[in-house]
Amino acid sequence: MDKKHLIAGSILSADLLDLGNDIQKALDVGTDIIHFDVMDYHFVQNLTFGPDLLKQIRARFTDAILDVHLMVEPINEKVLGDYAKAGASMISFHPEATPHVDRYLSFIREQGCKAGLVLNPGTDTSVLRYLWERLDFVLVMSVNPGFGGQKLIPAMMEKIKEVKAMAAAAGANIQIEVDGGVAPNTIRACADAGAEMFVVGSALFGKDDIAKAMSDLRAALA
Ligand code: DX5
Ligand code: ZN
Repeated sequence: MDKKHLIAGSILSADLLDLGNDIQKALDVGTDIIHFDVMDYHFVQNLTFGPDLLKQIRARFTDAILDVHLMVEPINEKVLGDYAKAGASMISFHPEATPHVDRYLSFIREQGCKAGLVLNPGTDTSVLRYLWERLDFVLVMSVNPGFGGQKLIPAMMEKIKEVKAMAAAAGANIQIEVDGGVAPNTIRACADAGAEMFVVGSALFGKDDIAKAMSDLRAALA
């Protein structure tokens, strides 16, 4: 298996009444990362999970990489600290959610987590310019955040390439994650553009046969 490409399963599309078993199945078929979408009905028009659920997931899956994508505002020490304490491995937020992006990226690392910034489809890459040394990863949204099951916006492939080129020019060692509409028919283009972590919700947890869903994704990447 090519571990240059990490699949992050978004539990947004999991069976929430059978979540533990769904996560176990996803890990069993080789899901590398569990992606945890936090929505607050303010930053996006949907409401999902909080730190108590994350804590239970961490208690049961002690070795899993737990990737917390915060679609909440405002971002502050309380929010970030809650998810870090609950067991997040990686935390990302949107620059529109706070005037203190630099400070809170540093804070995430101080909590022992990898720090990421998320770019909405309409958000320019220039926001990254003075932040490279604070960043472990950049999450490029390939749909507008809030809901699973949307269609990938093709123009975001250019943005991934741009982030990759900007990071290289800045000498920054970051990983690019892509989120939204990633499926067997779109994942190759994301990889070719420079993404290494692929958030997959409906095309993984949303499928009845998760083993086949994973092998279809891996086959498209191979
Ligand atoms: C959307 C979330 C995504 C979502 C992706 O706001 O950030 O993580 O679960 O779902 P799919 O893969 O179905 O587009
Ligand atoms: Zn997400």
